[in-house]
Amino acid sequence: MKSEPWWKEAVVYQIYPRSFFDSNGDGEGDLNGITAKLDYVKNLGVDAIWLSPFYTSPNKDGGYDVADPRDVDPRFGDLADAKALIARAHELKLRVIADIVPNHFSDQHEWFQAALKSGPGSAERNRFHFYDGNPDGTPPNNWISLFGGPSWTQVPDGQFYLHLFDSSQPDLNWDNPEVHADFEKTLRFWLDLGIDGFRIDVAHGLVKENIHKNHPNPQGLSDALRLDVEMDTEERNALLVSVPFFDRQGVHEIYRQWRKLFDSYKGREVMAVAEAWVHPPENATRYVRSDELQQVFNFDLLTAPFDGEFLFDVINRSIQLNSSVGALPTWALSNHDSPRVATRIGDSESRALALFVFALPGSAYVFAGQELGLPDGELQDTDRQDPSFIRSKGRVKGRDGARVPLPWNGDTTPFGFTTGKPWLPLNQSWQKLTVENEKADPQSSLNLFREALALRAEHLVNKGDVQWLESPLHGAKRKDLLVFKRGAVTVAMNLSELAQEVSIEGQVIMLSAGSLDSNSGKKLIPARSCIWSLN
Ligand code: BGC
Repeated sequence: MKSEPWWKEAVVYQIYPRSFFDSNGDGEGDLNGITAKLDYVKNLGVDAIWLSPFYTSPNKDGGYDVADPRDVDPRFGDLADAKALIARAHELKLRVIADIVPNHFSDQHEWFQAALKSGPGSAERNRFHFYDGNPDGTPPNNWISLFGGPSWTQVPDGQFYLHLFDSSQPDLNWDNPEVHADFEKTLRFWLDLGIDGFRIDVAHGLVKENIHKNHPNPQGLSDALRLDVEMDTEERNALLVSVPFFDRQGVHEIYRQWRKLFDSYKGREVMAVAEAWVHPPENATRYVRSDELQQVFNFDLLTAPFDGEFLFDVINRSIQLNSSVGALPTWALSNHDSPRVATRIGDSESRALALFVFALPGSAYVFAGQELGLPDGELQDTDRQDPSFIRSKGRVKGRDGARVPLPWNGDTTPFGFTTGKPWLPLNQSWQKLTVENEKADPQSSLNLFREALALRAEHLVNKGDVQWLESPLHGAKRKDLLVFKRGAVTVAMNLSELAQEVSIEGQVIMLSAGSLDSNSGKKLIPARSCIWSLN
């Protein structure tokens, strides 16, 4: 029997290196810290890790401002540490996905430094988007940075450069073949080091059109699009379809080339997942056509309310759209750019939803700490470091809450994360949520995740489509109860405030809250919880 590629229904554990585990007491997580904890990761039952950037960087945007994409920043270690991490992961049969950041470099990258020195019209400037301003001295157009403020910064000779993010993140000019060649070099560099795949940052942003035109900004917004998911969905969608710097046709040609490069690594099953915030949702499927990338993130669940009707619609749509191009969906409830799911929808709800999505076809992405049920860290404004907080002058709180380091053990903060001062403070209220405590508690979120992932591998992976069940609803509204069958497992999620009795055959093998009740025909599902029943 032909085996499926490893990534197809993989569970991928996202590690934000700075916040995972500090091996040298400087207050920031590092590569050796990750290696030291890989046994823990393996024991969760995940298939792969995705590492947010650990490359040389002045760290103005958590490492997404890359100054040398083919080296490790000293705060995280060095290339030998990266090799040791990959080797240990592979020993444990964990795949490793690296983040690649092709929309921009850091202003500290040698190319940008050379561009500053070389002056208007030079080949060095042509690697970025340098333009003269308007005769009245204003920037070339009215585009706005995703982190707030104008997306243009002026250099001393009068020209402006484009940065969709922070002014320290100049956008690359993908019309320039040198840029293509350099990224192919970077992809090969990490593949040759043993990396198994890539998460492509701002995958929809590389190609820009109509730089000389203003973007119609009917709402008069001062921050056009934000990544911190605080923006109203409709407002975001209206902008996404209209901006001339996202989701242009040209990006697909780049991924076709990359796909050829990936496939040239015979026998390696190299994969890539696109971070593409696009609208309408149909557009996302273009990134996973058979000659492009393998996966595209589905961000619907990062913002979805705990409402059955809503979840049914977005889940169904994602399954259908992906299948129209022969792909499987991805599911993510949290990441380093959005509030943690336990904070956003609640503790019980986040566990229920995790069980629910683990049973769906496709890949599940778990943000480190989610398995512990961690909420966002509560921070003082003086702790905050996110450029979106700084550029919006504090109006947008930013993404630091989700990036507070993980609590490992002990009774007092920083709970074993570091022997030094953590770069963001951990909350003392996390005492019960340490890995050490949760390991010992059979009812913990950690043990729920472990059991669920083991059972997922056994009974759900590669078991085909979902079949939504209406019959056990017994008059319950879809808003309050969702039931589907996949393989031999029936999955039922009670979204209401009351326990519900539902007719489902089989034996309950997972329950996200409380203890298992009846194993006969009728199952009592506690409020805000999810069960798996095996036939
Ligand atoms: C990353 C963010 C980062 C931005 C700019 C995003 O999509 O996930 O963390 O700030 O790209 O690189």
